[in-house]
Amino acid sequence: MDINILQDAATKAATRAYVPYSGFAVGVALLCGDDDKDEIISGCNVENSSYGLSNCAERTALFTAVALGKRSFKAIAIYSPNAADYLLPCGACRQVLSEFVGEDFPFYLGNKQGQFTKVAFSQLFPKPFKINE
Ligand code: THU
Repeated sequence: MDINILQDAATKAATRAYVPYSGFAVGVALLCGDDDKDEIISGCNVENSSYGLSNCAERTALFTAVALGKRSFKAIAIYSPNAADYLLPCGACRQVLSEFVGEDFPFYLGNKQGQFTKVAFSQLFPKPFKINE
């Protein structure tokens, strides 16, 4: 998969963000590799008037993918038209992603200019919580 396609999918997903409270739109594209077939599952942030119930784009994408039966994840791209610098996923999403991705899993972090930088998951979140490990 050409990584530009994943980055474009994240950019497009941000246009679907529901962000009446923060105005901060985020789009995510998750590359899945189940059954030896590449497939992109997208997500956006979905806010709520009870602010704390809002859902980040990363978790929307991951939970959508898992609910569709995906279990094999190859890369993720994250984009916001509002991010001055490369957008970093929040701590809650890092922990949630740690359930399904390993140390070398690549993150493509975008800024509002549409440039992306690649970082490994271990750089973002070196010691995730695991039950009895
Ligand atoms: N948000 C995400 O969707 N992903 C991130 O990586 C950081 C923050 C959302 C949550 C909220 O809707 C808005 O961005 C501002 O915090």
